[in-house]
Amino acid sequence: MTTVRVNSTDNVVSFETDALVVGVHPGEDGPRLAPGAEGLDDALNGKLAATLGAIGVKGRPGEVAKVPTFGALAAPLLVVVGLGDAPGSDADYDPETLRRAAGSAVRALAGTARVALALPSADASRVGALALGGLLGAYSFTKYRTNGEQPAPVDELTLLSGAEGAQAAVERAVTVSESVSLVRDLVNTPPSDLWPARFAEIAEETGAAAGLSVEVLDETALKEGGYGGIVAVGQGSANPPRLVRLAYSHPEAAKTVAFVGKGITFDSGGLSLKPSASMDWMKSDMGGAGAVFGALVAIAKLGLKVNAVGYLCLAENMPSGTAQRPSDVFTSFAGKTVEVLDTDAEGRLVLIDGIARAAQDSPDVIVDIATLTGAQIVALGWRTAGVMSNDDALRAEVVEVAGEQGEGAWGMPLPEELRKGLDSPVADIANLHPERWGGMLTAAIFLREFVPDGVRWAHIDMAGPAFNKGEAHGYTPKGGTGAITRTLLGLAERYAG
Ligand code: BES
Ligand code: MN
Ligand code: ZN
Repeated sequence: MTTVRVNSTDNVVSFETDALVVGVHPGEDGPRLAPGAEGLDDALNGKLAATLGAIGVKGRPGEVAKVPTFGALAAPLLVVVGLGDAPGSDADYDPETLRRAAGSAVRALAGTARVALALPSADASRVGALALGGLLGAYSFTKYRTNGEQPAPVDELTLLSGAEGAQAAVERAVTVSESVSLVRDLVNTPPSDLWPARFAEIAEETGAAAGLSVEVLDETALKEGGYGGIVAVGQGSANPPRLVRLAYSHPEAAKTVAFVGKGITFDSGGLSLKPSASMDWMKSDMGGAGAVFGALVAIAKLGLKVNAVGYLCLAENMPSGTAQRPSDVFTSFAGKTVEVLDTDAEGRLVLIDGIARAAQDSPDVIVDIATLTGAQIVALGWRTAGVMSNDDALRAEVVEVAGEQGEGAWGMPLPEELRKGLDSPVADIANLHPERWGGMLTAAIFLREFVPDGVRWAHIDMAGPAFNKGEAHGYTPKGGTGAITRTLLGLAERYAG
């Protein structure tokens, strides 16, 4: 566990630490030091730019270089991170640039006990960004390693800043990073150790500790309650489904937000079995429920002036003699019947029950979040979630909040002509469109059919962003990313006024 603190010293040269991190921008005659590192170049006899130039540092985002200080500073190691082009003024640093820089530096310093960040931090929000980026960059998942070869994460992170309100910003960052790390842990946990009932237990324990009230519906309660979609998806597995309701309320709240997460603890595809190459990362198919859980925990810990409910739609999608068959029909919680043409389009089946149940709480807004379609990755790539809505202003709001949090998201349409393809010859609607084109949009159009009239609803498809199959970058590790947790928290903060 990395601890983080603030120190208001303006003397970075004599600050005692194992590694001092400073920022650099590309300049005409080599990299140029960013604010926060005042006095450093003098202590190094004005040789820093030439030295950095000689070792190939340009100052580009994502660059990290380690330079020994040979006694010129109290810190034995100077670490330089690229910040890209300098903004117009010190107060204009993009928070996401700072999060990523702090994350890259701290990640590169795994195994170092004490790290100090002397990076641009003109105000509390920038200090918060540095703290969050640093903490998220320190994340590691070592529970299943026995060889001890992984370096320990940075032990103590110090932010050198005199900004007013720095301490409170750091405290918020700690809470947010705890939630995002919780989501990452859940996504990274192998499905042999995270099945629906286990996830529900964790939600009960951790949720209660954070001050949430938690209700769990087991398979019997789900059947009795008419949750046909969750039951249908879960019926093929030896690990039965669950619906978890997390609730937080504030006496002065004026608004209620409802979040609904897809929580498929493993998606084999069911009888419409996936090929092996698409299956090995389907432990991440509960990332939406993870984000909802993480956001609710953070909302409660931060004591936001809002009412929030979160639904975790938990099931394991498996093939077996009890599994649902392509062409089966079930009755959803909303009362509409659904023909299941493809059991691999299961996420939408659990979500419609969660959405219809959430509507009963009369929220001001429902946002569902899911690793819903491969088509999202085709359309927007690995790092940009798709945002769809029955309300243009809400869609824009979700995209804007994601941007503020540094999470990639982009608004997508719900073209009316795609609805017809979901007509079923036997039931009210089918779960599959005969054409794969626009698959992210047809999935959203399917969901929309289960949102009661007049309810503002948005859907976030984060199939790509939830799991990083590539190399770590910025504050994002390989594997579970905790994507969209911060966007949901940011939305709740907006509705808290
Ligand atoms: N969980 C998958 C979507 C997914 C794909 C998430 C890749 C993360 C990475 C979802 O349940 C699924 O299988 N969707 C199908 C839908 C299709 C059958 C209409 C898909 O996208 O192929
Ligand atoms: Mn699937
Ligand atoms: Zn799925």
